[in-house]
Amino acid sequence: MKNKITTLAALMTLRELKGNSTLGKASRKLYAKDNNNFDNNRNSSYSPNPSLPNMPERIPNLNPNSPLIPMQNLNGENHYPFKLLPLPYLANSLEPYIDTTTMEIHHGKHVLEYVQNLNAALKDYPEYHSWSLEKLLYNVSKLPKDIQTPVINNGGGVFNHNLYFNILTKGGKSLKQGSPLSMAIDSKFGSLNNLKAELKAAGLAQFGSGWSWLVSNKNGDLSVMRTANQNTLIEKNLTPVLNIDVWEHAYYLLYQNLRKDYIDSFFKVLNWESAERNYAKYKEIDYSKL
Ligand SMILES: [Fe+2]
Repeated sequence: MKNKITTLAALMTLRELKGNSTLGKASRKLYAKDNNNFDNNRNSSYSPNPSLPNMPERIPNLNPNSPLIPMQNLNGENHYPFKLLPLPYLANSLEPYIDTTTMEIHHGKHVLEYVQNLNAALKDYPEYHSWSLEKLLYNVSKLPKDIQTPVINNGGGVFNHNLYFNILTKGGKSLKQGSPLSMAIDSKFGSLNNLKAELKAAGLAQFGSGWSWLVSNKNGDLSVMRTANQNTLIEKNLTPVLNIDVWEHAYYLLYQNLRKDYIDSFFKVLNWESAERNYAKYKEIDYSKL
């Protein structure tokens, strides 16, 4: 399957791909053909729970023509068994900057697998079934040796993607001038453009798979950092403000090797209001106290 998509992508020029969602449609067709379960599930009914927290842009209703992927309801609980949290928008909402097929596979395949693998790792250890995802990640050295790496990789994968998907939105949302985050950015980086350049540089400097981050310490001081694989910055007890997924699975269908173009597009759909909400928690988030 991967080869089919890669071959398809190779046959189309980047200009063709960028100007419309042709690849999204074409690869979706191929994908559906090879993934009957995925396609069938997509057409199953879905009733969003209006009481879900922190989901300001709830998915209204399942549109049979939409590329919405199947999602489990969020039950508001943060412990084993972990759930795949729903996207806070339709999978095609970030077009043309992040294509529909990438979103479908990214969320409905990659992140689902992280959730399933995390649960599988914890299955035989009921003493940790009440621990939150953040507590597991901060205290990973206290876990049995044989599940430490699976928790780092899969628990980190779940945490990182939950943040990533929730700081994106259709059309993006601007940073409010004079907001605490805006002032902290100006103070540390001089300007928003300087910050974007640093985030981009961190994403490009990350060899192989990983993440570029904007994080805050307990004093509200911002830093740009990068992590490899699915490592988080929870172990450093830093509050994540936003992150950029620079794994190829986040961009390869549309951008191939042009990670820099994907990062430029990421900023077009970045929800700075979400980033402001995350930054506002820098004092209260203390993973060492979980
Ligand atoms: Fe990812």
